[in-house]
Amino acid sequence: MNESRPIIALDFPSFDDVKSFLARFPEGEQLYVKIGMELYYAAGPEVVRYVKKLGHWVFLDLKLHDIPNTVKSAMAVLANLGVDMTNVHAAGGLEMMKAAREGLGSQPKLIAVTQLTSTSQEQMQDNQNIQTSLAESVIHYAGKAAQAALNGVVCSAHEVEAIKAATTDDFICLTPGIRPAGSDLGDQKRVMTPSAARAVGSDYIVVGRPITQAADPVAAYQAICQEWQS
Ligand code: C5P
Repeated sequence: MNESRPIIALDFPSFDDVKSFLARFPEGEQLYVKIGMELYYAAGPEVVRYVKKLGHWVFLDLKLHDIPNTVKSAMAVLANLGVDMTNVHAAGGLEMMKAAREGLGSQPKLIAVTQLTSTSQEQMQDNQNIQTSLAESVIHYAGKAAQAALNGVVCSAHEVEAIKAATTDDFICLTPGIRPAGSDLGDQKRVMTPSAARAVGSDYIVVGRPITQAADPVAAYQAICQEWQS
């Protein structure tokens, strides 16, 4: 079945909030949701099992970064949870990314965070002592992720074209920072609309507050879906 639909960031503090949010959607409508650190640390693996049992796809956004052996073992646990996609930090290195892939197996998608979109070039150069441009660092990490047989990267929609040019067309670019025209930016700075993200070649968009904080989340989701898929 086609899983290409906007991924809803379930940035809620509790399991109960997730339950009432998902209950708003028509029965049988298959969603793709992102479970991040806040929800996972609050509600644990149970929330993943619950969402999977409802028939939805799950991107578990835990951004693992540790020694290869630890990441491999952790990934094996996540594979048992039945997640559809998860991620690591590319900064953990080639061996760590290979170990992550081994632990997770070949079925779930595995993607890497390159440079966080909250990191500026100045911060990267000062804090990480990487003396290239931010764009070069992102491209470099994307290449390492491809070399480790990962499926793609999390990136800004503004970086998609350069990443695709440096890797392959089927290398996934998953992009947060998506805002329908005219909607509140919140703390996101370099945003793109769903249709513009589609036009630059983004494979998945992640959308949180424009859906979760909307007066009518289902209507907001459907409008974004329509713009993304048309
Ligand atoms: O509410 P909003 O649409 O801004 O949510 C975007 C989601 O994507 C949040 O869960 C945020 O943590 C995540 N994210 C991001 N930028 C990244 C990586 C993840 O906004 N570089």
